[in-house]
Amino acid sequence: MTPTTGITAVLWLPGPPPIVRLLDQRQLPGSEQYLDCARPEQVMDAIKTLTVRGAPAIGIAAAYGVAQYLLVYPDGEFDDVLTQACARFAATRPTAVNLFWAIDRMWAAGQHSAGKSLVDRQAALVGEAQAIHADDAQCCVDIGRHGAPLLPDKGGVLTHCNTGALATGGIGTALGVIRTAHAQGKQLHVWMDETRPLLQGARLTAWECAKDGMQATLICDNMAGHVMGKGLIQAAIVGADRIAANGDSANKIGTYSVAILCAYHKIPFYIAAPTSTIDLTCPDGQAIPIEERHPSEVTCPQGAQFAPNGVAVFNPAFDVAPAELIAGIITEQGVARPPFAETLRQMVLAAQLRRDGC
Ligand code: MRU
Repeated sequence: MTPTTGITAVLWLPGPPPIVRLLDQRQLPGSEQYLDCARPEQVMDAIKTLTVRGAPAIGIAAAYGVAQYLLVYPDGEFDDVLTQACARFAATRPTAVNLFWAIDRMWAAGQHSAGKSLVDRQAALVGEAQAIHADDAQCCVDIGRHGAPLLPDKGGVLTHCNTGALATGGIGTALGVIRTAHAQGKQLHVWMDETRPLLQGARLTAWECAKDGMQATLICDNMAGHVMGKGLIQAAIVGADRIAANGDSANKIGTYSVAILCAYHKIPFYIAAPTSTIDLTCPDGQAIPIEERHPSEVTCPQGAQFAPNGVAVFNPAFDVAPAELIAGIITEQGVARPPFAETLRQMVLAAQLRRDGC
Protein backbone atom coordinates (compact mmCIF):
# COMPACT_ATOMS: atom_id res chain seq x y z
CA MET A 1 0.00 0.00 0.00
CA THR A 2 1.45 3.37 -1.07
CA PRO A 3 0.79 6.19 1.39
CA THR A 4 -0.44 9.59 0.24
CA THR A 5 0.02 12.95 1.95
CA GLY A 6 -2.20 15.59 0.37
CA ILE A 7 0.78 17.95 0.59
CA THR A 8 2.08 19.68 -2.55
CA ALA A 9 5.24 21.70 -2.08
CA VAL A 10 5.57 22.82 -5.72
CA LEU A 11 2.87 23.19 -8.38
CA TRP A 12 2.97 24.38 -11.99
CA LEU A 13 -0.02 26.43 -13.19
CA PRO A 14 0.32 26.76 -16.98
CA GLY A 15 -1.65 30.01 -17.21
CA PRO A 16 -1.31 32.33 -18.99
CA PRO A 17 0.46 33.74 -17.11
CA PRO A 18 2.52 30.69 -16.08
CA ILE A 19 2.84 30.45 -12.30
CA VAL A 20 5.10 28.43 -10.03
CA ARG A 21 3.02 27.92 -6.89
CA LEU A 22 4.98 27.14 -3.72
CA LEU A 23 3.72 26.14 -0.31
CA ASP A 24 5.47 28.80 1.78
CA GLN A 25 7.49 26.70 4.22
CA ARG A 26 8.60 29.75 6.20
CA GLN A 27 5.02 30.12 7.45
CA LEU A 28 4.58 26.52 8.62
CA PRO A 29 3.27 25.22 10.91
CA GLY A 30 1.44 28.46 11.77
CA SER A 31 -0.34 28.88 8.48
CA GLU A 32 -0.67 27.12 5.14
CA GLN A 33 0.01 29.87 2.63
CA TYR A 34 0.92 29.60 -1.02
CA LEU A 35 3.27 31.91 -2.85
CA ASP A 36 2.40 32.35 -6.52
CA CYS A 37 5.58 33.19 -8.42
CA ALA A 38 4.73 34.96 -11.65
CA ARG A 39 8.38 35.68 -12.40
CA PRO A 40 11.39 33.36 -12.27
CA GLU A 41 13.25 35.83 -10.04
CA GLN A 42 10.60 35.12 -7.38
CA VAL A 43 11.33 31.40 -7.67
CA MET A 44 15.07 32.09 -7.29
CA ASP A 45 14.37 34.18 -4.22
CA ALA A 46 12.09 31.46 -2.81
CA ILE A 47 14.91 28.92 -3.10
CA LYS A 48 17.40 31.27 -1.43
CA THR A 49 15.04 32.07 1.45
CA LEU A 50 13.95 28.44 1.99
CA THR A 51 10.36 29.24 1.07
CA VAL A 52 10.84 26.03 -0.90
CA ARG A 53 13.54 23.71 0.44
CA GLY A 54 14.77 20.15 0.56
CA ALA A 55 17.09 18.88 -2.15
CA PRO A 56 14.58 17.29 -4.56
CA ALA A 57 12.01 20.09 -4.13
CA ILE A 58 14.66 22.71 -4.90
CA GLY A 59 15.47 20.86 -8.13
CA ILE A 60 11.81 20.68 -9.11
CA ALA A 61 11.20 24.37 -8.35
CA ALA A 62 14.29 25.36 -10.35
CA ALA A 63 13.19 23.22 -13.29
CA TYR A 64 9.80 24.97 -13.41
CA GLY A 65 11.61 28.27 -12.90
CA VAL A 66 13.84 27.68 -15.92
CA ALA A 67 10.79 26.80 -18.04
CA GLN A 68 9.03 29.93 -16.78
CA TYR A 69 12.10 32.02 -17.61
CA LEU A 70 11.88 31.05 -21.28
CA LEU A 71 8.16 31.90 -21.30
CA VAL A 72 8.58 35.22 -19.52
CA TYR A 73 11.63 36.25 -21.58
CA PRO A 74 10.74 35.05 -25.09
CA ASP A 75 12.86 37.68 -26.85
CA GLY A 76 16.49 37.00 -27.53
CA GLU A 77 18.24 33.94 -28.85
CA PHE A 78 16.68 30.85 -27.16
CA ASP A 79 19.97 29.19 -26.22
CA ASP A 80 21.35 32.43 -24.75
CA VAL A 81 18.27 32.95 -22.61
CA LEU A 82 18.39 29.30 -21.52
CA THR A 83 22.06 29.63 -20.57
CA GLN A 84 21.26 32.72 -18.54
CA ALA A 85 18.30 31.02 -16.82
CA CYS A 86 20.38 27.97 -15.91
CA ALA A 87 23.24 30.11 -14.57
CA ARG A 88 20.93 32.22 -12.44
CA PHE A 89 19.19 29.23 -10.89
CA ALA A 90 22.53 27.48 -10.31
CA ALA A 91 23.60 30.45 -8.17
CA THR A 92 20.73 30.10 -5.69
CA ARG A 93 22.05 27.41 -3.30
CA PRO A 94 25.33 25.47 -3.50
CA THR A 95 25.04 22.15 -1.65
CA ALA A 96 22.03 20.18 -2.91
CA VAL A 97 23.23 18.58 -6.14
CA ASN A 98 19.63 17.85 -7.19
CA LEU A 99 19.44 21.53 -8.13
CA PHE A 100 22.30 21.20 -10.62
CA TRP A 101 21.05 17.80 -11.80
CA ALA A 102 17.63 19.31 -12.61
CA ILE A 103 19.20 22.33 -14.32
CA ASP A 104 21.37 20.00 -16.43
CA ARG A 105 18.25 18.08 -17.47
CA MET A 106 16.54 21.35 -18.45
CA TRP A 107 19.59 22.42 -20.43
CA ALA A 108 19.71 19.08 -22.25
CA ALA A 109 15.97 19.26 -23.02
CA GLY A 110 16.49 22.73 -24.47
CA GLN A 111 19.32 21.45 -26.68
CA HIS A 112 17.23 18.49 -27.75
CA SER A 113 14.48 20.84 -28.93
CA ALA A 114 16.85 22.76 -31.26
CA GLY A 115 15.35 23.40 -34.69
CA LYS A 116 11.76 23.52 -33.40
CA SER A 117 9.59 26.63 -33.14
CA LEU A 118 9.82 28.87 -30.08
CA VAL A 119 6.46 27.63 -28.83
CA ASP A 120 7.52 24.01 -29.19
CA ARG A 121 10.83 24.67 -27.45
CA GLN A 122 9.05 26.39 -24.56
CA ALA A 123 6.64 23.46 -24.35
CA ALA A 124 9.56 21.03 -24.33
CA LEU A 125 10.99 22.76 -21.27
CA VAL A 126 7.67 22.74 -19.44
CA GLY A 127 7.34 19.05 -20.29
CA GLU A 128 10.82 18.30 -18.95
CA ALA A 129 10.11 20.12 -15.69
CA GLN A 130 6.91 18.12 -15.29
CA ALA A 131 8.84 14.92 -15.99
CA ILE A 132 11.44 15.83 -13.33
CA HIS A 133 8.57 16.38 -10.89
CA ALA A 134 6.81 13.11 -11.76
CA ASP A 135 10.08 11.13 -11.70
CA ASP A 136 10.81 12.39 -8.21
CA ALA A 137 7.35 11.37 -6.98
CA GLN A 138 7.99 7.85 -8.30
CA CYS A 139 11.49 7.81 -6.76
CA CYS A 140 9.92 8.51 -3.37
CA VAL A 141 7.55 5.55 -3.75
CA ASP A 142 10.43 3.27 -4.74
CA ILE A 143 12.69 4.53 -1.95
CA GLY A 144 9.86 3.80 0.49
CA ARG A 145 9.44 0.28 -0.91
CA HIS A 146 13.16 -0.52 -0.66
CA GLY A 147 13.65 1.16 2.71
CA ALA A 148 10.64 0.02 4.73
CA PRO A 149 11.97 -3.54 5.29
CA LEU A 150 15.06 -2.04 6.96
CA LEU A 151 13.01 -0.50 9.76
CA PRO A 152 12.01 -2.59 12.78
CA ASP A 153 8.46 -3.99 13.01
CA LYS A 154 8.18 -2.16 16.28
CA GLY A 155 10.38 0.51 17.84
CA GLY A 156 11.82 4.00 17.65
CA VAL A 157 13.20 5.66 14.52
CA LEU A 158 15.14 8.91 14.70
CA THR A 159 15.09 11.41 11.86
CA HIS A 160 16.69 14.81 11.34
CA CYS A 161 15.53 17.87 9.40
CA ASN A 162 12.57 17.44 7.01
CA THR A 163 12.62 14.88 4.25
CA GLY A 164 8.91 14.50 3.59
CA ALA A 165 6.41 15.74 1.05
CA LEU A 166 7.54 19.29 1.74
CA ALA A 167 11.08 18.44 0.63
CA THR A 168 10.26 16.38 -2.47
CA GLY A 169 7.79 15.87 -5.29
CA GLY A 170 6.18 12.91 -3.52
CA ILE A 171 5.88 11.22 -0.12
CA GLY A 172 9.46 12.02 0.83
CA THR A 173 12.77 10.19 1.11
CA ALA A 174 13.64 9.29 4.72
CA LEU A 175 10.18 10.32 5.89
CA GLY A 176 8.77 8.46 2.88
CA VAL A 177 10.41 5.27 4.15
CA ILE A 178 8.93 5.85 7.61
CA ARG A 179 5.54 6.61 6.02
CA THR A 180 5.63 3.45 3.95
CA ALA A 181 6.58 1.30 6.94
CA HIS A 182 3.80 2.95 8.96
CA ALA A 183 1.29 2.25 6.16
CA GLN A 184 2.46 -1.40 6.16
CA GLY A 185 1.45 -1.62 9.79
CA LYS A 186 4.84 -1.36 11.47
CA GLN A 187 4.49 0.08 14.95
CA LEU A 188 7.00 2.87 14.79
CA HIS A 189 7.61 5.77 17.07
CA VAL A 190 9.26 8.67 15.23
CA TRP A 191 11.82 10.71 17.15
CA MET A 192 12.23 14.07 15.42
CA ASP A 193 15.27 16.27 15.99
CA GLU A 194 14.14 19.90 16.04
CA THR A 195 17.04 20.75 13.70
CA ARG A 196 18.54 24.06 14.71
CA PRO A 197 18.85 26.75 13.55
CA LEU A 198 15.89 26.80 11.12
CA LEU A 199 13.86 24.12 12.90
CA GLN A 200 12.83 22.06 9.88
CA GLY A 201 12.26 19.10 12.21
CA ALA A 202 10.11 20.99 14.70
CA ARG A 203 8.18 23.10 12.20
CA LEU A 204 7.88 20.78 9.20
CA THR A 205 8.46 17.12 10.12
CA ALA A 206 6.29 17.45 13.21
CA TRP A 207 3.57 19.01 11.00
CA GLU A 208 3.77 16.19 8.45
CA CYS A 209 3.79 13.43 11.08
CA ALA A 210 0.77 14.95 12.82
CA LYS A 211 -1.13 15.08 9.52
CA ASP A 212 -0.37 11.38 9.01
CA GLY A 213 -1.39 10.44 12.52
CA MET A 214 2.02 8.92 13.21
CA GLN A 215 3.26 8.54 16.78
CA ALA A 216 6.04 11.09 16.97
CA THR A 217 8.02 12.92 19.63
CA LEU A 218 10.01 16.11 19.16
CA ILE A 219 13.39 16.48 20.84
CA CYS A 220 16.06 19.17 20.81
CA ASP A 221 19.06 18.12 18.75
CA ASN A 222 21.23 17.69 21.84
CA MET A 223 18.82 15.14 23.37
CA ALA A 224 19.32 12.43 20.76
CA GLY A 225 22.21 10.76 22.63
CA HIS A 226 20.18 10.59 25.83
CA VAL A 227 17.20 9.03 24.04
CA MET A 228 19.47 6.49 22.34
CA GLY A 229 21.11 5.69 25.67
CA LYS A 230 17.68 4.86 27.08
CA GLY A 231 17.21 2.26 24.30
CA LEU A 232 14.32 4.10 22.65
CA ILE A 233 15.78 4.29 19.15
CA GLN A 234 16.33 1.19 16.98
CA ALA A 235 17.23 2.92 13.69
CA ALA A 236 18.03 6.37 12.33
CA ILE A 237 17.19 7.50 8.82
CA VAL A 238 17.90 10.86 7.21
CA GLY A 239 17.99 12.39 3.74
CA ALA A 240 20.92 13.85 1.83
CA ASP A 241 21.75 16.89 -0.22
CA ARG A 242 24.79 15.44 -1.96
CA ILE A 243 26.33 11.98 -1.76
CA ALA A 244 29.97 11.72 -2.85
CA ALA A 245 31.27 8.78 -4.88
CA ASN A 246 32.72 7.11 -1.75
CA GLY A 247 29.41 7.38 0.16
CA ASP A 248 30.23 10.42 2.32
CA SER A 249 26.85 12.16 2.57
CA ALA A 250 26.11 15.84 3.11
CA ASN A 251 22.85 16.57 4.88
CA LYS A 252 21.41 19.17 7.23
CA ILE A 253 23.80 20.37 9.91
CA GLY A 254 23.66 18.00 12.88
CA THR A 255 23.48 14.84 10.77
CA TYR A 256 27.17 14.07 11.41
CA SER A 257 26.52 14.12 15.17
CA VAL A 258 23.55 11.75 14.74
CA ALA A 259 25.73 9.34 12.73
CA ILE A 260 28.41 9.32 15.44
CA LEU A 261 25.85 8.79 18.18
CA CYS A 262 24.39 5.87 16.22
CA ALA A 263 27.83 4.27 15.82
CA TYR A 264 28.45 4.52 19.57
CA HIS A 265 25.06 3.02 20.39
CA LYS A 266 25.25 0.38 17.62
CA ILE A 267 22.13 1.71 15.94
CA PRO A 268 21.94 1.40 12.12
CA PHE A 269 22.20 4.81 10.44
CA TYR A 270 20.61 5.01 6.97
CA ILE A 271 20.56 7.62 4.25
CA ALA A 272 17.53 7.75 1.92
CA ALA A 273 17.89 9.72 -1.31
CA PRO A 274 17.17 9.46 -5.02
CA THR A 275 20.11 8.75 -7.34
CA SER A 276 19.83 12.40 -8.44
CA THR A 277 21.49 13.18 -5.07
CA ILE A 278 24.57 11.08 -5.91
CA ASP A 279 27.43 13.13 -7.32
CA LEU A 280 30.05 10.78 -8.75
CA THR A 281 32.20 13.79 -9.69
CA CYS A 282 32.76 14.45 -5.96
CA PRO A 283 35.29 11.84 -4.83
CA ASP A 284 34.54 12.32 -1.12
CA GLY A 285 32.88 14.61 1.39
CA GLN A 286 35.78 17.08 1.39
CA ALA A 287 34.80 18.06 -2.16
CA ILE A 288 31.18 18.85 -1.28
CA PRO A 289 30.53 22.62 -1.11
CA ILE A 290 28.93 23.48 2.23
CA GLU A 291 26.58 26.45 2.26
CA GLU A 292 27.09 29.03 5.00
CA ARG A 293 24.07 31.12 5.87
CA HIS A 294 23.44 34.43 7.60
CA PRO A 295 24.39 34.71 11.31
CA SER A 296 20.92 36.04 12.17
CA GLU A 297 19.51 32.55 11.61
CA VAL A 298 21.48 31.52 14.73
CA THR A 299 21.22 34.66 16.83
CA CYS A 300 17.63 35.57 16.02
CA PRO A 301 15.69 32.44 14.93
CA GLN A 302 12.04 33.04 14.06
CA GLY A 303 12.50 36.68 15.03
CA ALA A 304 13.41 35.94 18.66
CA GLN A 305 16.75 37.37 19.79
CA PHE A 306 18.76 34.48 21.31
CA ALA A 307 22.22 36.03 21.51
CA PRO A 308 23.80 39.44 22.01
CA ASN A 309 24.27 41.65 18.98
CA GLY A 310 27.73 41.43 17.48
CA VAL A 311 28.55 37.92 18.73
CA ALA A 312 30.69 35.94 16.26
CA VAL A 313 28.65 33.23 14.56
CA PHE A 314 29.48 30.25 12.35
CA ASN A 315 26.42 28.99 10.48
CA PRO A 316 27.14 26.08 8.12
CA ALA A 317 23.83 24.75 6.77
CA PHE A 318 25.11 21.20 6.19
CA ASP A 319 27.66 18.70 7.42
CA VAL A 320 29.00 15.42 6.09
CA ALA A 321 28.36 11.99 7.57
CA PRO A 322 31.39 9.84 6.68
CA ALA A 323 30.67 6.72 4.65
CA GLU A 324 32.00 4.39 7.36
CA LEU A 325 29.16 5.43 9.67
CA ILE A 326 26.43 4.65 7.10
CA ALA A 327 24.79 1.20 7.14
CA GLY A 328 23.06 1.68 3.80
CA ILE A 329 22.02 4.28 1.24
CA ILE A 330 18.44 3.70 0.12
CA THR A 331 17.77 4.85 -3.45
CA GLU A 332 14.93 4.26 -5.88
CA GLN A 333 17.10 1.55 -7.46
CA GLY A 334 17.62 -0.38 -4.24
CA VAL A 335 19.81 -0.26 -1.15
CA ALA A 336 23.50 0.50 -1.67
CA ARG A 337 25.68 -1.19 0.95
CA PRO A 338 29.38 -0.67 1.62
CA PRO A 339 31.71 -0.54 -0.20
CA PHE A 340 29.80 2.43 -1.59
CA ALA A 341 32.34 3.29 -4.29
CA GLU A 342 31.09 0.24 -6.15
CA THR A 343 27.42 0.06 -5.15
CA LEU A 344 26.63 3.76 -5.70
CA ARG A 345 28.07 3.55 -9.20
CA GLN A 346 25.74 0.59 -9.86
CA MET A 347 22.74 2.58 -8.61
CA VAL A 348 23.52 5.54 -10.86
CA LEU A 349 24.04 3.26 -13.85
CA ALA A 350 20.77 1.43 -13.18
CA ALA A 351 18.94 4.78 -13.01
CA GLN A 352 20.47 5.87 -16.31
CA LEU A 353 19.50 2.61 -17.98
CA ARG A 354 15.95 2.90 -16.65
CA ARG A 355 15.67 6.46 -17.98
CA ASP A 356 17.05 5.40 -21.35
CA GLY A 357 14.39 2.67 -21.44
CA CYS A 358 16.89 -0.22 -21.46
O1 MRU B 1 18.32 23.69 4.11
P1 MRU B 1 17.27 22.69 3.71
O2 MRU B 1 16.04 22.75 4.56
O3 MRU B 1 16.96 22.75 2.23
O4 MRU B 1 17.96 21.28 3.98
C1 MRU B 1 17.23 20.12 3.71
C2 MRU B 1 17.94 18.88 4.11
O5 MRU B 1 19.05 18.89 4.56
C3 MRU B 1 17.23 17.59 3.82
O6 MRU B 1 17.52 16.65 4.79
C4 MRU B 1 17.71 17.08 2.45
O7 MRU B 1 17.56 18.07 1.48
C5 MRU B 1 16.98 15.87 2.02
S1 MRU B 1 15.31 16.28 1.53
C6 MRU B 1 14.57 14.89 0.96
